[in-house]
Parts: sequence; C-alpha cells; structure tokens
Amino acid sequence: MRKDTPINFAEVEKQIELMNLDSVGKSSIRLVKRLVDNIEEATGERYVRMEMGIPGLPPSKIGVEAEIEALQKGVAAIYPDIDGIKPLKNEIARFVKLFMNTTVSPKSCIPTVGSMQGSFAAFATLTRMYPGKDTILFLDPGFPVHKQQCRVQGIPFDAFDVYNYRGEKLREKLESHLASGKVAGMLYSNPNNPSWICFTETELKIIGELATKYNVVVMEDLAYFGMDFRKDFSKPGEPPFQPSVTQYTDNYILFISSSKLFSYAGQRIGMMVISDKLFETRTEGFCRYYNSDMFGRAMVFGTIYALSSGTSHSAQYALTAMLKAANDGSFNFWEVVKEYGEKAKIMKKMFAGNGFKIVYDMDEDQPLADGFFFTISYPGMSGEDLIEKFVYYGISAISLAITGSERTEGLRACVSLVSRDQFPDLEYRLKKFHEHHPMG
Ligand SMILES: Cc1ncc(COP(=O)(O)O)c(C=O)c1O
Repeated sequence: MRKDTPINFAEVEKQIELMNLDSVGKSSIRLVKRLVDNIEEATGERYVRMEMGIPGLPPSKIGVEAEIEALQKGVAAIYPDIDGIKPLKNEIARFVKLFMNTTVSPKSCIPTVGSMQGSFAAFATLTRMYPGKDTILFLDPGFPVHKQQCRVQGIPFDAFDVYNYRGEKLREKLESHLASGKVAGMLYSNPNNPSWICFTETELKIIGELATKYNVVVMEDLAYFGMDFRKDFSKPGEPPFQPSVTQYTDNYILFISSSKLFSYAGQRIGMMVISDKLFETRTEGFCRYYNSDMFGRAMVFGTIYALSSGTSHSAQYALTAMLKAANDGSFNFWEVVKEYGEKAKIMKKMFAGNGFKIVYDMDEDQPLADGFFFTISYPGMSGEDLIEKFVYYGISAISLAITGSERTEGLRACVSLVSRDQFPDLEYRLKKFHEHHPMG
C-alpha cells in the first residue's frame, strides 16, 4: 500500500496496532469510531465522518422551548399517561392526516421512547397474537438494531434484500416468504436506511395487498419522514403526501421518529401509530400474556407499561409543540432537513468523479433521491478493503454487509455530520485515493 496517504501512514498503523485490531474492515461501527477518534486526537486531522447516522442539525427551537416551559411547570414530578398526553395524541393524528392523508383516531397514536421502543414493543406484541405466527420478516437492507431487538427477545426472523425484487417482481418473492403463515409482521424503512431506496406506489400496493391477504402487520418505519427530496412534502393538507402502505391496507403500525425530522434524537421520543382496525383487533392468543385480548390494550397496558410505563413527560410537550407548528403550517420542517439532500448531491458527485459507483441507484425506472444516506463501492474492492483503506485517507463509513444487503462490496455513507467546509478535504482525499488505486 502507498505510504503517502493524506493521513500520516505510520500514525494510522500505530493506532490500529494500539487497538489490537486484526482487521479494521471487519470491526464493528463503534470500534471504527473509536479508532478514528484516536487517530484524530493523535494527528490533529479532522476526518470526513460518514459512519454514524446522527442528526447534524441543531434541535428544533420550538421543541426545546416547549420542553423547558413544561419542566418549569413541574411535569417532571408527574407520571404521564402510558399512552401519551391528550394534546400530543391529537397532534399526531392531525400530522398523519395532513402529511400522509391517512385517518387514525388519537387513541391509536402513542408516543414511545424513540421509535426504537416502538419497534421493540411491536415485535413483542405482534408475535403474541396468534400461536405459531411468531416470525418477523425484514425487507432488507435495514437497520441492524431491529434484528438485535428480535434476538434479545428470542423472536425468530427472516429477511431478504429487496433490491433484486423491485416493482412487480416483489409480489412473488414476498409471497414466498409469507405463504408459510408464520410471519406476524414485516418491517421496512422508507426512505430506506442504509440504501435510501424509496418504495414506489406499485411496491407499496403489493406490500399492502399481501399484508391483508396473509394477515401480516406491516411495520412502516418512517425515520426519514418526507425526506425523498424529489418531491415537496412540506405543505400540510396538500399533495404530494408521504407515500405509505396505509393507502393499501388497514393492517399497519407506523413508527415516526422525531430524531431526524426535528433533530430531537437526544430526548428519545418517537411516535407509534396503529391502524384503528388493528388497535381494536381481539385475539385469544393475547390472553396467554396480557389482561386484555384487544391489541391496543395489550400494547399500551401490557407491553409499553412493562417496558417504561410511558415516555418522558416533558419531551411529550416538546413533540406536541413541534407537531402543532408543522400542522398549522407555521414551521416548515422539510425546508430544514432538505440540507441533507443538497449535501448528498454534491458528495455523490465527488465520489462518482473519482471512480466510485453508487451501489443502490434506482427506484424502478427513477434515479434514487439524494438524502441522508447514499451507498458507494470502488471497482475491484470489497467493502472491508474499502473501509480499511479509507482510514488512511481520512474518511470513515460503514459496511453494507451488516445491514442484510447482498451488495457486500458497498459502504453506507451518511451525510449528516459532514460539514460543507470539509468538502475540499473530501475532494482532495478521494482524488488521492483514486490516484493511488488506479482501475485496471
Ligand atoms: C431506519 C431507522 N429506524 C429507527 C431509527 C431510530 O429512531 P429513534 O431515534 O426514534 O429511536 C433510526 C435511527 O437512525 C433509523 O435509521
């Protein structure tokens, strides 16, 4: 390997040795993060950090102010209702109506401790509905922690990479996974972490139809709500709306995170929206675990009660205020997060100009949106090799191999923590990389 790398070669080697890493490419995200932290400290060089998916914007002021006010009024001393404070439930239902054109009653809208708690609770509850229907299906690539949530609960899961089954092809593939009758729920994120693919209406319709046919609950993870920046989702009550399976089935749970939408990740508050039909569904199976045979009650007074007995009281006031402002049209959240898409467009161009390929690049016949993540590969190199080499060039990212992707040559790059003033560094480092790794 060439030694005239942008980051001091000997120092990088030394830091890798100090951490006792056999292979940087095979290390976990957290280990790579630690290694990069150490090299930054030792060299004083700033990395182009694309490994972690954390918001790179300040938190919404509306939320912070409402939360301070609520704390000053003394809510910290009071247990909130397990299923959320009334004004929040109303604003969630309004939000879903205004930005998704989907009708749900406030009772079915429940705050959770981040959307991560929502998925954990959904996996637990869904797999207890019917004896024998105990498996979760992941439409990959996906967020590895969801699978970890199944593992720690002993819940069986199944998965496939949807990229080879876009459009009508999805029907047969999905049906082959549902036909066994064992799947209780299926989960995907849309836009997708890590690939940033967005399902088309054809695909959402297929998913919805099959969910109804096989009585499988669709868990739609909208962590990046409205961030398919090819369309303007910013006007409440006006199309286009955030595309959703809710248009095609009434067998769904939505997870809407406030982490990226309102840059509110630190307060750990998200929304779980259950279709009214599912909320009211009664099944004998629940009686084995809960005091109620009704889905909504089992979820709230069984699972969520057992997990955390509700969600931080003050954060609920923050979320109420942010949603209210968005619903009233006085706060345009979409304009704020659009910055992610604008940065992605510039960064993708830099990668493409230096020999890299975009791994996931199409939604059926349409080029992918620019957004929070994009995926890259370098011809002739595995994802592991690429991560390993990037460390010497002052760039960090994660391997797609851990996301259930079949494209193991690829890496996921996250734009959020890269500031525009780092673009010249990124350009220089990629140019050097390309120069040092000529393609055959
Ligand atoms: C697809 C996906 N789902 C869920 C989450 C977590 O959301 P929250 O912070 O609301 O728990 C993330 C965060 O990165 C994500 O990418």
